[in-house]
Parts: sequence; C-alpha cells; structure tokens
Amino acid sequence: MRTHIITYGCQMNEYDTHLVRSELASIGAQFVDSPDEAEFVLLNTCAVRGKPVEKVRSVLGELRQEKQKRNLLIGMMGCLAQLEEGQQIARKFQVDVLLGPGAITEIGKAIESRSKFWDLTFKDRLTSHVPPAPRGQLSAFVSISRGCNHHCTYCIVPTTRGPEVSRPPDLILREIEAMKAAGVVEVMLLGQNVNSYGKDQPGYPSFAELLRMVGKVGIPRVKFTTSHPMNFSDDLVAAMAETPQVCEYIHLPVQSGSDRVLKRMAREYKRDWYLDRIKAIRQGIPDIVLSTDIIVGFPGETEEDFEQTLSLYDEVGYDQAYMFIYSARPGTPSYKHFEDLPRELKVERLQRLIEKQKEWSYRKNQNWVGKTVEVLVRGVAKENGYAEGHDRGNHPVLLPSSQVVGPGLYQAVIRQATPHLMFGEVAGAQAAATIPLVMA
Ligand code: SAH
Ligand code: SF4
Ligand code: F3S
Repeated sequence: MRTHIITYGCQMNEYDTHLVRSELASIGAQFVDSPDEAEFVLLNTCAVRGKPVEKVRSVLGELRQEKQKRNLLIGMMGCLAQLEEGQQIARKFQVDVLLGPGAITEIGKAIESRSKFWDLTFKDRLTSHVPPAPRGQLSAFVSISRGCNHHCTYCIVPTTRGPEVSRPPDLILREIEAMKAAGVVEVMLLGQNVNSYGKDQPGYPSFAELLRMVGKVGIPRVKFTTSHPMNFSDDLVAAMAETPQVCEYIHLPVQSGSDRVLKRMAREYKRDWYLDRIKAIRQGIPDIVLSTDIIVGFPGETEEDFEQTLSLYDEVGYDQAYMFIYSARPGTPSYKHFEDLPRELKVERLQRLIEKQKEWSYRKNQNWVGKTVEVLVRGVAKENGYAEGHDRGNHPVLLPSSQVVGPGLYQAVIRQATPHLMFGEVAGAQAAATIPLVMA
C-alpha cells in the first residue's frame, strides 16, 4: 500500500511516526512523498493547543473530498485520536482507521479490519518494544518514558498520553547501542519529564544514573528533553558535568515568572525555586545553553504577573524560548474553572515577550562569535551556498557548502550571528564524510 504520513506536534510524535513507519514497512507498505500519490494517508495528530487541532480538521476536510473521487484510506493516530474531541472529528470526516498514541504496534490489525474505532484503551506495549535503528540518520530520538504524572491545569497531555511509564533501562541502552552501530552521532532522549525517569518503577536507575550509563555507550552527543524544574536535582547537574557526551544544553520550561500564575497552573514550584535551579546549573555547567517554554495570557494573568515573566526572562537570560498564547483545551481544569482573557491582550503580551526573546537571543548568539563549536551538519540549507547543522547547544549553524564534504561533525568558528542563526567557517581541513550532501 502506498502510504503517506503527516506528523504534527512534538518530538514524541516524530518518534512515534518512526515507530509506525517501521510497523507499516514490516507489513509491506511503501512510502510516498505526497498525499496525492498515496492510497493510505495517516495523520499523526497533536491536541496541545487549538491550532494543531484546526490544522487536522482542515487537512481531513481536503482528504474527505479526495476520497469522493478515488479509493483512499484515511488514518488518524496520536494525541487527538485519544480524545473524545478527536473521535468526533474522525466520525465527521470519515476517518477509516483510528488509533491512540499507545496502540501504534496495532496499526497492522487496525488496517486489516478497517477498524473505524480501534480500541483506544489498548494497553501500551511500546515501553517494551525496541524499534529498528534508523538508517542513514546522524541524529535520532530515543523514548525513555511515556506519559506524565503532573497535572498542570492547562495541559491535555496527561489525558492523551496517560500516567508516566519509564522504559526498562536495558532496552534503552540496547536501542542506543544499535543506533551507534548504525552511525548515529547524536541521540535525543525523550519524555514529557525525562528527569523523573525511573520514579515509577522500583529498582530503576534515576535519570542522572541513566545519563551516565548512556554516556558510556559512546555516542558523541547526548541531549534530552523535556525536563521539569521540580525534578532537576543536583545529582543531575553533576551527571551532566562529568559525562562529556552530554551536551551543554537544557530545555527547562518555566511557563510563567509569577508565583500567583504558577500556582494557578499547578506547576508545583515557585519562581525562587526555579531561579535556584538555574543557579545550580550555571555553577555546575558554566557554558550551559538554556531554552524554555512560556505561556502568555493564562487566565487571570495581570499586567503585573506578566511583568514578572519579563523580569524572570532577564534574570535567567535565555538563549532561546518557545512562547505560546494560552489556548483553552476542553477537558483540562483551567478550561473548566477559569475564564479566558481577551485575545487582543494575549497577542499584545506575546509580542512584547517576542521582542525580549529576540534581544536576548541576539545578545547570546553574539557571544559565540569568534568561538569554536562542534557542528553536526545534516544537509544543504535553504539559504543558497550553505550547509545547515546545529551545535551542541542546539543553535542552528550555517557553514559554506564549499567547506563541507558531507553530513557529519565539524569543528567550526562562528563568524556572525543573528537572533535566529549563526554563521561559521570550518576550522582547518577535516575528514571527508562518506554520505553525499543532500537536502535535509
Ligand atoms: N512536558 C513538557 C511539554 C508539554 S507540551 C513540559 O512540561 O514542559 C509543550 C508546551 O506546550 C508546554 O511546555 C507549554 O508551554 C505549552 N502548552 C501546553 N498546554 C498549553 C495550552 N493549553 N495553551 C498554550 N500552551 C500550552
Ligand atoms: Fe503537561 Fe505539565 Fe505534564 Fe508538561 S508537566 S506534559 S505541561 S501536565
Ligand atoms: Fe501534542 Fe501530544 Fe506532543 S498533544 S505536544 S503531540 S504529547
């Protein structure tokens, strides 16, 4: 069957797309680049905000029209598929195959039975599943846990992905060893809260211990996301500092700088706690690159609350931030109990925050000018004459194509920086990679 998969949402969904691809390949699916050529179009969906849900609706609308003209099977998986909201959408748009984020290994059966509403409560077997290593990829994701045990009042993820389940450490290590053998040079450990890893299973290592074990496998770069400030222990800082493979990069969502808002969000920490964790991180890993997630316009957020978010931003001095306008999600406590702020107010605050982010990213990126960084080149950049890659701090870096022989790791001197990009030059002559340089 000619298959096309479209992925929305976070890295967990990208990883799940990799899993479902390998399931589909094992039952003979071929993959095509466009939905027009496909007999089966599968949407891997996200429900975290209103926007990705709207996107799925509009694509399903187009596919339903296409279906009236020809034989087409439509599938929907991922977080939205797990919700009542998503199941209604599936019914409306004549989705043929529906499966929740825990049922990926059942895709074959679901297609065979053209199952309209596959058992979404299917027990998650993915924690004990070792997928094949990706081929020809230098950078890869590894899931270390699924689900989330926190109850942030705005968030739908605990509903779509269920409570936290850690994967057995030996399976994680086996997966990473296979990746190393397949030529992967960077792994990103994935979970909603990677740093609470192991707490749900007696006898499992802590996340700090797991990082040390992963370091020993010997893949040159190890990154992880997402960390929760509550679980960012001193031992984790120590594990990062003493494991050379672990990159000097942390994504630590703060969401708000106001204690009042943090409390209404049920984030479980206060501003001072968060700042104390940043201090401990900077002491242990002085050249750390920091990014965060921030929600603006949470219900009840006053001008003063918002200004506290701005001042926290200045206190931390983030390298990068992902900023979101609060989106009321049906089924979450904040949707039920709090009243949404006017849209114009939220948009105005987002713009002010974006200004701050740009200033800081520019300033932070400028600090790298003249310094040497390790760039993982992935392919040709869309900017003419450049190859694109990213450094250990997750900054996107462009290098002149003429200095790059193929994908791989390069030492490069940063020559110029904008808020979004760094431009570098390869330092000295470097070993040729064997894979030809292709479009990323
Ligand atoms: N487990 C991670 C990521 C969760 S989803 C964490 O705790 O950080 C990624 C980001 O989406 C969140 O950090 C939050 O900033 C944002 N987000 C989640 N729900 C949202 C909502 N209802 N409206 C706006 N942004 C939201
Ligand atoms: Fe959502 Fe909070 Fe869990 Fe992150 S920690 S997935 S924001 S409930
Ligand atoms: Fe979206 Fe699910 Fe990820 S809701 S952000 S795809 S965990």
